[in-house]
Amino acid sequence: MYDLIIKNGKLVYDSYTVENDLAVKDGKIVQIGKFSDDQANKIVDATGKYVFPGGVEAHMHCMAPFQGALGANTFFEQSVSAAYGGVTTFMDFANMSRGQSPFEQVKARRKEMEESAIDYSVHGKFIEANEYTLKDIDKLVDYGTPTFKMFMTYKKEGVMADDETILQVFRKCKEVKGLPMLHCESNPIAENNIRECEEKNDLSWVNFAKCKPILCEAEAFSRAVWFAKYVDTGIIVVHTTNKEALDVAREAHSKGFPVYVETGPHYLTLFDDLYEREDGYLAICSPPLRTPKQAEELWDGIKDKTISLIGSDDCTFDVDEKSMFLEKDSEGKFIQDFRKVVNGLSGLEVRLPIMLSEGVNKGRISINDVVALTSTNIAKVYGCFPQKGILAVGSDADIVIVDMDKEVTLNKDVLHNNISYCLHEGMKIKGYPETTISHGKIIVEDGKFYGEKFAGKFVERSIDQNIIQKFDL
Ligand code: URP
Ligand code: ZN
Ligand code: ZN
Ligand code: ZN
Repeated sequence: MYDLIIKNGKLVYDSYTVENDLAVKDGKIVQIGKFSDDQANKIVDATGKYVFPGGVEAHMHCMAPFQGALGANTFFEQSVSAAYGGVTTFMDFANMSRGQSPFEQVKARRKEMEESAIDYSVHGKFIEANEYTLKDIDKLVDYGTPTFKMFMTYKKEGVMADDETILQVFRKCKEVKGLPMLHCESNPIAENNIRECEEKNDLSWVNFAKCKPILCEAEAFSRAVWFAKYVDTGIIVVHTTNKEALDVAREAHSKGFPVYVETGPHYLTLFDDLYEREDGYLAICSPPLRTPKQAEELWDGIKDKTISLIGSDDCTFDVDEKSMFLEKDSEGKFIQDFRKVVNGLSGLEVRLPIMLSEGVNKGRISINDVVALTSTNIAKVYGCFPQKGILAVGSDADIVIVDMDKEVTLNKDVLHNNISYCLHEGMKIKGYPETTISHGKIIVEDGKFYGEKFAGKFVERSIDQNIIQKFDL
């Protein structure tokens, strides 16, 4: 007797789709084939629907004291929002200050994430390389957390990794099968531009984007890629926004060099005209939002597989946190000073819907591409495949049933965040996850949440040698 059978759905893989049933027992997928209704305690009929492996989100910042703000959601609340968005595994970053041990910080983060209703993992963060922090890389790989974020900017915030740090972490990663993740923005270019804005006393939201132009990102991107080539090790570059950076990746890929490029749904759907709005501070994130033309160039990068990962970079801050350091004028309006705005946008729950609607239903990419970009490739690159990222016998029964005809108009009330605004307000979505299953248990169905606090499990990851050696997903 199985615990659950999902019948008559179209099972979606990264490169093909097949109509079949799935049988689940003890939290795992145990058979794929055709079954009768008396073979399970519970039957879910997926006729006309698509069955996806649960989404894997490797890039979010929850309960992260960054630039003085913490975020609107607890980890449990974040997991509820994730589940509604078809995500069944998510990863966050250890918090890091100078003098701290990356390993101890990852363990502390893991503890904070225990209340999650879905599976979770943690990335280390490196802001300095010395004999103590570098030793932690061995420990982190053994601990099942072999991915490490480094910021190439945010020097003033105290979290920038300088070039020597980056190079040393890359070398150590190559030695012990770790995988670095880079936030590529050139600190000197950004600081130079910010200084000019300060001199002109024009710190408007619009100027924020101008201080971090495409070349600011592309310079850091190519520096990171050259370092990786020099050390001869794979890297992940997060939240890429433009063609200049993609061209650097294309060149690397043409030689089989493993640069894994992520972009986020907000760079595909939100644009820099938001900075012209009075409440444009709500759209301030790094790198900044770009133009519709640049978004189309990102879609080109997705189509030609230069971009293989979609990460939300979710930072869900409510109005009060986004604006906590801003001052008001005599009319009660915020005085525009982009330096005082906490960076980051909400996006975890809309990641899959946006890819289904803007990607598949608008004819840009296939439904298989969406599974690759939001689940399979992420599980492979981040080292939790095939436990996650595929509907296969032996894999965790983390499953999402998708209705490609379901229409939803996005606004704050259809999402499950503790915030009072939605930058995608009014956006029409066609294609939506409707049932989410974690370890064989239905956690979202008919708009209701059935998951439990502390039900998520820590996922131990290890990077496949192939991922580090060559670009071949
Ligand atoms: O603006 C952003 N992206 N804030 C979160 C931190 C980061 O850079 O990923
Ligand atoms: Zn970043
Ligand atoms: Zn981020
Ligand atoms: Zn699971």
